[in-house]
Amino acid sequence: MNKCAVVVILAAGEGTRMKSAKAKVMHKVCGYPIIEHVVRTAEEISESLPVVVVGHRAEQIEQYLGQRVRYAYQAQRLGTGHAVMVARPVLEKTDGYVVVVAGDIPLIRSCTLQKMVRFAYEGRYDAVALSAILEDPTGYGRIIRDDAGDLERIVEHKDATDEQRQVKEINVSAYCFNIRALLASLDGLDNHNTQGEYYLTDVIHIMKERGNRVGAFVTWDADEVLGINTRVQLAEVEQKMRQRINRRHMENGVTLIDPNNTYIEPDVVIGCDTIIYPGNVLEGRTVIGEECILYPNSRIVNSLIGNRTQIQASVILDSKIGDETTVGPYAYIRPGSDIGNEVRIGDFVEIKNSSIGDGSKVSHLSYVGDGSIGRDVNIGCGTVFVNYDGLKKHRAVVEDNAFIGCNVNLIAPVTIRKGAYIAAGSTITEEVPEKALAIARARQVNKEGWVERRQLKKKGEGDK
Ligand code: UD1
Ligand code: CA
Repeated sequence: MNKCAVVVILAAGEGTRMKSAKAKVMHKVCGYPIIEHVVRTAEEISESLPVVVVGHRAEQIEQYLGQRVRYAYQAQRLGTGHAVMVARPVLEKTDGYVVVVAGDIPLIRSCTLQKMVRFAYEGRYDAVALSAILEDPTGYGRIIRDDAGDLERIVEHKDATDEQRQVKEINVSAYCFNIRALLASLDGLDNHNTQGEYYLTDVIHIMKERGNRVGAFVTWDADEVLGINTRVQLAEVEQKMRQRINRRHMENGVTLIDPNNTYIEPDVVIGCDTIIYPGNVLEGRTVIGEECILYPNSRIVNSLIGNRTQIQASVILDSKIGDETTVGPYAYIRPGSDIGNEVRIGDFVEIKNSSIGDGSKVSHLSYVGDGSIGRDVNIGCGTVFVNYDGLKKHRAVVEDNAFIGCNVNLIAPVTIRKGAYIAAGSTITEEVPEKALAIARARQVNKEGWVERRQLKKKGEGDK
């Protein structure tokens, strides 16, 4: 047994040390709010919906998490023990073990919590506190053991004696409690301490006095336990989580040239033998295929990239890109774009809500907005899909094998039929038939001898 009946997440605190208008747990770590990481962990260790204790800026948390969790409302923040008291109605209806975890420790792993729960089951404990050994335990509650090495009590840093402060074993703020025993002891809490709060940590000693079996389970990964109370800790945790994600990809066969400068969010999937240069930011539900090369400095958000595709210094948002395609440098692929295989999207090209068929090329300096481009089409340098008439957006269609010369305007709605050519500099307002050449520009006029005649005229003026 390593699942528990329910998880209670404490997230009502003010988070004053963040100096922020936002709820502390809504600050992001690797792209997702702190609370998201903790809720996901909770979902892995219990079948029932987690209970989140909210208070300060509750509406922000409720809006984000919606129906994924249950809520307990702590109107006044009187301490972590009090926060658990407000979850009492849910706990009274539940039997077995509850895991209580602070909402500000996003690196905590579900497997560690599962080990703690198993430790509780197997040792028939009524309370188990997760602990860790820290080189610098400053600020954390200390695990105080008796002569036999059993858990005696937890003492907050601010309340600890000098001798107690020497202890390097700290309270992580994740616990497993037998629900009945916890409920029976909660009322014994008081706030007679330096912070005037009802400490959840005091429940350990109360339970012990009542004859309950209490223990501490040590996790050896000191990184997991880092709590976020300040922006400095936010950055530290971000770095640790990034390292954890990047390590996973490297273990799966992805080359990261510089893992310290590669930013990959937790849900991104990357295929084997893909190489990623520094400065890449991969966000949301992005999936990158196999054997791709991401040269430096791209941002790719919620996009699907095929196999053996190469991307350089570009931004790609909510789009799909096929196999063996090249993008960039300096391309901007905006939402709703579907780019095929063996396509070339070159420098300073913007694509929005458009489809581009296999083998087509948009090599330089073009805007393709609301376009449907077929296969093996060539879009010349400086082409503009003129999609907006000031009121509405319209689509332009360019069929297979068409050739659009440089500096062409396609005034949508308009269709260029299969294999048609458009002369450079044309402004196209009407359909171009299959295999026709369209020229839509003023015919050139050469005025022979014009320069000399002009100079003569100038001289005449000067003589006057
Ligand atoms: C807490 C522990 C400490 C432990 C440390 C680990 C207590 C008394 N202390 O201290 O032993 O070493 O975590 O990071 O529990 N919260 C509420 N309502 C409240 C107060 C807090 O919901 O009234 C929530 C906060 O939003 C936060 C969590 O409980 O997510 C922990 O509170 P915090 O004030 O950060 O406790 P620490 O001082 O870090
Ligand atoms: Ca904390």
